Amino acid sequence: MTGNRAKKEIDNEGIEVRLLLEAIYLKYGYDFRDYASTHIRRRVNHRLAISESPTISDMIHRVLNDPSFFEGLLQDLSINVTHMFRDPPLYRAVREEVVPHLSTYPFIKIWHAGCATGEEVYSFSILFQEEGLKDRSQTYATDFDASILELAMQGIYPVDCVRRYTANYHEAGGKNAFADYYTAMYDSVTMDTSLRKRVLFSLHNLATDSVFGEMNIIFCRNVMIYFNRDLQDRVVKLFLDSLCPGGFLCLGSKESLAFSKYADRFTLVNEKERIYRKRRRKMPMTRGGDPLLASNGTGELKKPRVKGKNA
Ligand SMILES: C[S@@+](CC[C@H](N)C(=O)[O-])C[C@H]1O[C@@H](n2cnc3c(N)ncnc32)[C@H](O)[C@@H]1O
Repeated sequence: MTGNRAKKEIDNEGIEVRLLLEAIYLKYGYDFRDYASTHIRRRVNHRLAISESPTISDMIHRVLNDPSFFEGLLQDLSINVTHMFRDPPLYRAVREEVVPHLSTYPFIKIWHAGCATGEEVYSFSILFQEEGLKDRSQTYATDFDASILELAMQGIYPVDCVRRYTANYHEAGGKNAFADYYTAMYDSVTMDTSLRKRVLFSLHNLATDSVFGEMNIIFCRNVMIYFNRDLQDRVVKLFLDSLCPGGFLCLGSKESLAFSKYADRFTLVNEKERIYRKRRRKMPMTRGGDPLLASNGTGELKKPRVKGKNA
């Protein structure tokens, strides 16, 4: 075998996994082909161990012919672990370093990409409510998994989590009692419906769907960690195109833009908490030397000032 051919050789398991992902894409439209291969292999092998399939090739047959088997595999491939006020210092940083900017805008558009069962959405809803921004905001909460979104819309969580979430809430700089935001029922708590006001839950696949409005802030935390470099770059570009100039991007604690093709299109707001800001392009000036763009971060064009008049 020549050196070149040897280089391209993939082990049999790698070939089977690729064929499985191709089958999922062709049959169901979910595109996992650019997810990190270590993550995919680990999850496929997990399903193999708990299913009756003897081989990955056999799983391909089952995926194609048994939608419920595919549903189980989808849950395996799309890790849904999440918590309320996950990484509390991030929430403090948003309160202290981002909210002062957002407060100057007349209207705020927020996108939670990969929102899972909604804990992050309710947490930021509480934060924006406490900071007096909720009534002039619109939140889009998206995920590519319909069954997960259904749970997010219900906002019902196990009561066992409440102690931990209460501690997180206070560590995150919460201003009230966490109990003000839910009703307890036997073994579960239901989040207050006011937190769902101005929140739109919607299906969106970061690997295959397009730009999402003119956002002022995007949260995409603990999602890109499962993607390969190519897909990470594509998704960062999608966020770049979805953010208005000066818009904020918040990633998960193990994610970073440091190696992204588009790193220089952002400035760093808080390195530790992974908060970035889309650079404004060099601002066009009026003939009088005023910036032509509004300074409220919306990127809207401002009418040039005519000497002696308020144009
Ligand atoms: C680990 S959870 C993160 C939840 C939340 N952002 C957090 O940090 O707690 C990852 C979520 O990303 C979603 N996801 C994975 N791939 C996706 C894709 N291509 N498009 C949209 N959502 C995706 C999964 O369904 C899952 O709900």
